[in-house]
Amino acid sequence: MKRMLSGIKPTGQLHLGNYIGALRNFVLSQEEYEMIAFIANLHCITVPQDPKELQKNLYDCVALYLACGLDPSKATIFLQTDVMEHAQLGYILCCHTYMGELNRMTQFKDKQAKGETNLSGGLYTYPSLMAADILIYDPDFVPVGEDQKQHVELCRDIAIRMNNRYGELFKVPEPLIPKVGARIMSLTDPDKKMSKSDETNKGCIYLLDPLNVARKKVMSAVTDSLANVHYDPENQPGIANLMQIMSSLSNDRPFGDIEQEFKGKGYGDFKKAVAEVVCNKLEEIQTRYNEITNSNLIEKTLNEGANKARAIASKKLDLVQKKLGMEIVLK
Ligand code: AMP
Ligand code: TRP
Repeated sequence: MKRMLSGIKPTGQLHLGNYIGALRNFVLSQEEYEMIAFIANLHCITVPQDPKELQKNLYDCVALYLACGLDPSKATIFLQTDVMEHAQLGYILCCHTYMGELNRMTQFKDKQAKGETNLSGGLYTYPSLMAADILIYDPDFVPVGEDQKQHVELCRDIAIRMNNRYGELFKVPEPLIPKVGARIMSLTDPDKKMSKSDETNKGCIYLLDPLNVARKKVMSAVTDSLANVHYDPENQPGIANLMQIMSSLSNDRPFGDIEQEFKGKGYGDFKKAVAEVVCNKLEEIQTRYNEITNSNLIEKTLNEGANKARAIASKKLDLVQKKLGMEIVLK
């Protein structure tokens, strides 16, 4: 069985972009692949966090993994900090990552370009830690949204470099980017991606938004004046975004099919239908979330997941340290 691995940062509340671009695909993959899904709680402290808020987001993130359909009897689900080998391999990989490579990472560059000050060293070296998160499990595929593709490519470069230098250490993984929904855009500004750091909160639908709030956000989504439900991301980015949301949440319904249904109808009708699909999905997730938060499933899942993950990770770390000559091997 091929292995798949991915993670999400619990930096804020999970949103529809996380679900469509990443989480949904983890759930679909667990049937066919050995799925490893973790919560990247080391990555989230690369930017300042309020400890109380972080704790709440962390808990919700695990609960939402389960509520969205990840099944602990199929997938390995754990917290990054419960498997300390990640940080140690992260350091080793950081020593095999060039500063020139880190300087090219758009996520860091964007923050710098915006003039954000006091950016941390952790934020700068984060792609090396992400490479360790991946390589320590030898996955075949890494399902992520579009914004993470560059990081997975760097991970591949590091793996190839180290394999060439020390002999076969790591499997070189492939990023897996969904064809539709890899970059869900903000509802208020369809040129920007939907993100946890949406200042107004109006462009971002959180998975735990009350249904009336989510409905309102869809109904006030920015569109255009062409009055035609047609898939054209360049000229009609708002409509294209809503179509992507609708398609992904209705079993990858083809765009042509959606266009057909709304031919000659106004945007009001179309938005109502999108809101309906979104609210149905949120309701399903939230019902399950409420059941999970009232059970001991989270603790049990994380304990079992960490044990399974640690067994794989500790072997790999040991192999790497031996191959690098970092361990004393008694004769
Ligand atoms: P993050 O919230 O940055 O930890 O992202 C977790 C996962 O969700 C990654 O695979 C991202 O690529 C994906 N993701 C985040 N925002 C979006 C978005 N707006 N559209 C699609 N995928 C996204
Ligand atoms: N960097 C990813 C994000 O911001 C989260 C992440 C951390 C990740 N480690 C990973 C994703 C390993 C895939 C594989 O979304």
